[in-house]
Amino acid sequence: MKSCLLFSPLFLLILLVTPFYNAIAQKKSLDQKVDSVLRLMTLDEKIGQMNQYNGDWAATGPITKDGDKQEQIKKGMLGSMLNVTGTDHTRTLQQLAMQSRMKIPLLFGQDIVHGYRTIFPIPLAEAASWDLPAIELSARVAATEGAAAGIHWTFAPMVDIARDPRWGRVMEGAGEDTYLGSLIAAARVKGFQGKGLGNTDAMMACAKHFAAYGAAVAGRDYNSVDMSNRQLLETYLPPFEAAAKAGAATFMNSFNDLNGVPASGNAYLQRTILKGQWGFKGFVVSDWGSIGEMINHGFVKDNYEAAMAAANAGSDMDMESRSYIQNLAKLVKEGKVKIAVIDDAVKRILRKKFEMGLFDDPFRFCNEARENEQSNNPAHITAAREVAKKSIVLLKNEKQLLPLSKDVKNIALIGPFVKAKSDNLGFWSYDWPDDTARIVTLWEGVKSKLAAGSNVLYAKGCEIKDTSRAGFSEAVAAAMQADVVVMTVGEARDMTGEAKSRSVIRLPGVQEELVKAIVATGKPVVVLMSAGRPLVFNWIADNVPAIVYTWWLGTQAGNAIADVLFGDYNPSAKLPISFPRTEGQIPIYYNYYNTGRPAKNDSDLNYVSSYIDLPNSPKYPFGFGLSYTSFSYGDIELSKPVFKPTEKLVVKCTVINTGNYDGEETVQLYIRDLVGSVVRPVKELKGFKKIQLKKGASTTVEFILTANDLRFYNDKLQYIFEPGDFKVFVGGSSASVKEAGFTLVK
Ligand code: BGC
Repeated sequence: MKSCLLFSPLFLLILLVTPFYNAIAQKKSLDQKVDSVLRLMTLDEKIGQMNQYNGDWAATGPITKDGDKQEQIKKGMLGSMLNVTGTDHTRTLQQLAMQSRMKIPLLFGQDIVHGYRTIFPIPLAEAASWDLPAIELSARVAATEGAAAGIHWTFAPMVDIARDPRWGRVMEGAGEDTYLGSLIAAARVKGFQGKGLGNTDAMMACAKHFAAYGAAVAGRDYNSVDMSNRQLLETYLPPFEAAAKAGAATFMNSFNDLNGVPASGNAYLQRTILKGQWGFKGFVVSDWGSIGEMINHGFVKDNYEAAMAAANAGSDMDMESRSYIQNLAKLVKEGKVKIAVIDDAVKRILRKKFEMGLFDDPFRFCNEARENEQSNNPAHITAAREVAKKSIVLLKNEKQLLPLSKDVKNIALIGPFVKAKSDNLGFWSYDWPDDTARIVTLWEGVKSKLAAGSNVLYAKGCEIKDTSRAGFSEAVAAAMQADVVVMTVGEARDMTGEAKSRSVIRLPGVQEELVKAIVATGKPVVVLMSAGRPLVFNWIADNVPAIVYTWWLGTQAGNAIADVLFGDYNPSAKLPISFPRTEGQIPIYYNYYNTGRPAKNDSDLNYVSSYIDLPNSPKYPFGFGLSYTSFSYGDIELSKPVFKPTEKLVVKCTVINTGNYDGEETVQLYIRDLVGSVVRPVKELKGFKKIQLKKGASTTVEFILTANDLRFYNDKLQYIFEPGDFKVFVGGSSASVKEAGFTLVK
């Protein structure tokens, strides 16, 4: 009956004469509201909702220009746009959408990855904080600023596990570990979506890139991925599942093929797993042009086949391929894509538009006063500094060279990043000319800490990438006059990110030579490494007394680094990814399998799994990071040596602050399943706790393990635990742990 009424001319008349969506009764359930709209739509209008175009700027791929976008919006041929920003701009485009027959509001999306106006550390750096509330806060601020500028949807978080630092997009994720990555994925989704869609400070999150994009062969961006389904389920998919469980409104598929099937045409990923097993109710957007790129993959012949493969596989929205808008109507008419497939995709998209409140008021995100207030909100700057401090990793501190005294008489700041502005922001950040003044350089950060009588010397020394050594002598002269030298070296902002894979991940240009020249002066040297990925820097690691990994820290970089250098903040971050000794070790990660011929140690070469020219261990292991204080770990105490699946195992360990500063430690718990029906990693992170300890104080850290923590995918892809013997490890890094053993019985 209801559907007859909805189709009746009377109902249509009512719709046309009343403010459009008031007629869709408030009391209806969301599904009913969505259905009510869907029923009124023509096939072309439905396909329009599945179509997304780029705005005018910030393209990461080729833009296909086919027709006037504005006219297409008025005809209802567009469901969403990306890279359109600002309340003015979004309002203008939304007004065009209101001229379309169905008046369905547009969704505006953008890559707001680590901040919009206030830039936070790159995601990999934030992951080093292991601080979930801080990471959530960063996403919250980004969403508040983005939503205030008219943007409904961020293409973040990237939750791809990455074990290959050659891959430029390693900067966008949470590193190599599935457990840590899953918690961070959920924190970021919660941060972006805040108290829920429908609030004007919430943006829809988008978990990407579904799936396994981080395992691109040889770390080359957009490359193929080939892995067992067991590896996929166990290592690469859990952060996506965590994002879905945390309520991520959308997913983005990926450029790569997975075991021969491009992700955009991959029904196993999108239909069986995401929408089937995980019950995901949101929609899936393709990556930029990835539907059309299935032609290049050699998976489909043309755009017609591309649209068919993608729609049938569960890709709901086409970003910039124009495959859907050009082919879906014909495919439906020819019976190659069922109308039910189209309806399902459109319902998913409409549902999110309803949840965002856009049917109630399409302009609710277009509030200029809010935009001004949020983009200059001082609380955001404070938050950015806090998160940046927590992301800085202290890698080496011989003879307690750090922290420096604020009364230092002569300090030299040397290197191409000392006065750099936008290089602090890193990839996936936007240049707002108005905001340049807000970026705090290292120079400014350091000067603000020093006593009035301190003399701050400066020399750039060299450019980031150039090979000129012309500035070396000036830099050496500055160092000679200094009591201590702080050097900043690293990668330019455009050297790590999308399409920024590198085969050699060392300092570009002559920066390492500059460091050598300055160290040769005999002055104490602190090196700050500014980069989006783990770099290889063995000479520096072995010859410079103090090394701080400062990544790309964002708007407040200079202040945050100065907080650490002068001891106002005691560094607490831990590496979320292993740092290789050379590129030849890649992929390198802590949770490898033991093999049949494990090396006993780094110098064991006796027909074991090793290199004849290189130790197996990384330069810096996963979970590693120093503090100005030191922590010692007592022995592990277990509540019982044997436990049953119905029971809990309590793991306790006492940690003492044995150094001279109050400090924060991230206590990490790993397990090893000694014998499994499929082989298990030598260590797997299963818990961590951040603790604050005053100097001399101690505390007992407690973890609870249950049989669920011991699950894995067996060779039948069942997620099970198996009775048997396990090891449990607790420590301050994956390579420095106490250990104990327990047994799980039936
Ligand atoms: C990237 C996505 C991004 C999209 C839109 C693509 O090239 O792979 O991560 O969201 O562009 O900018």
